[in-house]
Amino acid sequence: MRIGMISATGPAGGAVALRLAASAIEVQVGSRSLEKSRQVVADLRDKWPDRDLPLLPATNEEACDNELVICAAPAEACLDVLYKLRNLLDNKVLVSMVNAMYMAGKQLHPWIPSRGSMAAEMQALLPTTKVSIAFQHLPAAKVADIGNTLKADVLICSDDTEARDQTVSLVESITGLRALNCGGLANAGPIEQMTAVLVNLNIIYKAHAALGILGL
Ligand SMILES: NC(=O)c1ccc[n+]([C@@H]2O[C@H](COP(=O)([O-])OP(=O)(O)OC[C@H]3O[C@@H](n4cnc5c(N)ncnc54)[C@H](OP(=O)(O)O)[C@@H]3O)[C@@H](O)[C@H]2O)c1
Repeated sequence: MRIGMISATGPAGGAVALRLAASAIEVQVGSRSLEKSRQVVADLRDKWPDRDLPLLPATNEEACDNELVICAAPAEACLDVLYKLRNLLDNKVLVSMVNAMYMAGKQLHPWIPSRGSMAAEMQALLPTTKVSIAFQHLPAAKVADIGNTLKADVLICSDDTEARDQTVSLVESITGLRALNCGGLANAGPIEQMTAVLVNLNIIYKAHAALGILGL
């Protein structure tokens, strides 16, 4: 299986790319610059020299040449990035891992876009793309440490059943993650906003905690 990732050259996008590649999924690590993507892929491979990681350098445009594409751009840039790629994302599954937050003093606050979530903004911008969300609550440092098994629940939602099912399968290809179907995109807002709570917990308790749902 091959997937593409848009703007995957940052710490969180790179970590998810690495984790998926460690699960034998080919990942095109998209960037505005092919040169930058080549460098990031080389750096990720250098950290794990004993692993044969199927990470492929790519432009963001090339990363869109897949049935499933993950968006790892920062909230403030993601809509501009996606708008430029809109013709390439027609009928594709687009998994947003984007969180919208801002720092106020020493606390992170959720930033609530006018449609309630970044995912809803994406869906409105790209009406012929099937938007879902995943990976919001996974701390990048833990995800990037592929020598250790992750243990966390990943909350997934989408208005498109096929997109939701494909996102669940993708997340469950990573050992230790449990993918939970949370229904439609109306739930994307609370899921994205919960990240600020989790990051504040991690700051206060000096931890890299992820999320787990009890009783399911
Ligand atoms: N930090 C975490 O633990 C965590 C966990 C879960 C989800 N997330 C979310 O995952 C996403 C990625 O996080 P990150 O820390 O990896 O992001 P980042 O480093 O801030 O940005 C990722 C990439 O986006 C592109 N980019 C940055 N600014 C841009 C701009 N103004 N215009 C166009 N492209 C721009 C750059 O790629 P190129 O220059 O290569 O194009 C950059 O390397 C974010 O939405 C974040 O909220 C983070």
